[in-house]
Amino acid sequence: MKLQARDLTAGYVPGVNILDGISFDLADQEIMTVIGPNGSGKSTFLKCLMGFVPARTGTVTISGADCTKVPAHRRVRRHRMAFVPQLDNVFGPMSIRENVRAGGQHMPRRERERRADELLGRYPALGDRQHARADSLSGGERQLLAVCRALMPRPDVLLLDEPSAGLSPAKVTELFDTIVGIRADEDVTVLCVEQNAVQSLAVSDRGLVLVQGQVALEGAARELMLDPQVSELYLGGLPASTPEVTSVVEGVL
Ligand SMILES: Nc1ncnc2c1ncn2[C@@H]1O[C@H](COP(=O)(O)OP(=O)(O)OP(=O)(O)O)[C@@H](O)[C@H]1O
Ligand SMILES: [Mg+2]
Repeated sequence: MKLQARDLTAGYVPGVNILDGISFDLADQEIMTVIGPNGSGKSTFLKCLMGFVPARTGTVTISGADCTKVPAHRRVRRHRMAFVPQLDNVFGPMSIRENVRAGGQHMPRRERERRADELLGRYPALGDRQHARADSLSGGERQLLAVCRALMPRPDVLLLDEPSAGLSPAKVTELFDTIVGIRADEDVTVLCVEQNAVQSLAVSDRGLVLVQGQVALEGAARELMLDPQVSELYLGGLPASTPEVTSVVEGVL
């Protein structure tokens, strides 16, 4: 398994666990969507996997190596993890290229430039304007930029916190296509917290439903999409039989 958690608990205030005994397995190059109500602990979950919020009990392993006690900056280098936080983390006044390069601080200079060229070359929306200020980008382009920055050191595991937040429906679809492309191009395992559950599950191998810091449901993404409880609570109240969901599900099956 690429990424595993066992009985993970974590929180901010003594005595209150926001994550309450989370276990899951994610195989190499799988994409997993995490859904759940606001405040259920999704962002805390990613922060704990990344090491920004320490685990109180339990373990996190990457490729079999226990990294539970390893601080976040070392997880980036030693365990090849990358994290794109929920809130906009693009440095607006810096150029697009500088933003991408910022993800490769520890890389040797020449390799860093080569890697930035590679990523900017792959995404013309960024590459064609690489010397423009990052705050001139659209919302979707900014998300892509944040992802490219995270990809600079060639991570094995990519944690994304609501990458499609605030995007128009067409841009949401485009973003998920891009994530699938990244998995293919970069051989990366992806864990993605999402509100756009239908589209995200549609491109995922696995899904996990987090409720009050616990795993309420976990399984193959296509099975979760067809689960009546999931579709009612998390897929915008759409029963699995409505045309919107059916068309996405059929596209997947
Ligand atoms: N830095 C913090 N200090 C104290 N409590 C926090 C902190 N960050 C989050 N919490 C609390 O932890 C709980 C879970 O928050 P979290 O951000 O993980 O939820 P979420 O599922 O990501 O929500 P959303 O869908 O709104 O992004 C909430 O009750 C929140 O108030
Ligand atoms: Mg969140």
